[in-house]
Amino acid sequence: MTTILQIDASARVSRSLSRQLSRRFVEAWTAERPADRVIRRDVGANPPPAISEAWIAAVFTPEPERTDDQRAQVALSDELIAELAAADVIVLATPMYNYGMPAALKAWVDQVVRIGKTFTFDLARGDYPLEPILGGKTLVVLSSRGEFGFQPGGIREAMNQLDPHIRTIAHYLGVAEIHTVTIEYQEFGGERHAASITQADADATALARRLARGIARSAA
Ligand SMILES: Cc1cc2nc3c(=O)[nH]c(=O)nc-3n(C[C@H](O)[C@H](O)[C@H](O)COP(=O)(O)O)c2cc1C
Repeated sequence: MTTILQIDASARVSRSLSRQLSRRFVEAWTAERPADRVIRRDVGANPPPAISEAWIAAVFTPEPERTDDQRAQVALSDELIAELAAADVIVLATPMYNYGMPAALKAWVDQVVRIGKTFTFDLARGDYPLEPILGGKTLVVLSSRGEFGFQPGGIREAMNQLDPHIRTIAHYLGVAEIHTVTIEYQEFGGERHAASITQADADATALARRLARGIARSAA
């Protein structure tokens, strides 16, 4: 059985294009592999809290020495990390907000990229002391944006603080391979936007089928 972690980060619960893509992807996946498990984590509707001084102190306190209050501080983080650790495929549906990720998604990242849980830190490694603990996961980034041209070579490549940030963080989530499907032109509307939606819907569906069938073949 494969486990999918579906993360939705749009603040819009209805009319969200990124949520439409994650729905398409998961529907196409489960049509191929109905017995697989899907964990849903809606950070757009229920944003995790921003980390605090008390949270940081708790995660740097060895587990057996944590007070009850410190255990409560890290309880949600433990739950989110358990979901991540269980996932073979992470389906991350996110809008671009102010050229980067929504604050709710960044709050999730801060809760899960955690010392001793998702990465180790050792100065003996020299200039790159952090190493991920998890590995082998596939990340599918399904995103939507109002403008266009954020891809490599596009007119807004330099303004894209979303995809490069996700790529950097993905290493610490244990991601081995990344696939991306994007809707553009939402703020312009018109034919370009309609064509972008049609293409992304088809790409998300085809990607889900291809990955699901690939897993079925490698398990055979
Ligand atoms: C608060 C906010 C900030 C946004 N910032 C940007 C932006 O920086 N660049 C952009 O291209 N679109 C921006 N947009 C447009 C969204 O990316 C677009 O509406 C997208 O479709 C939202 O995803 P959703 O449909 O899943 O809610 C912004 C929208 C909102 C609500």
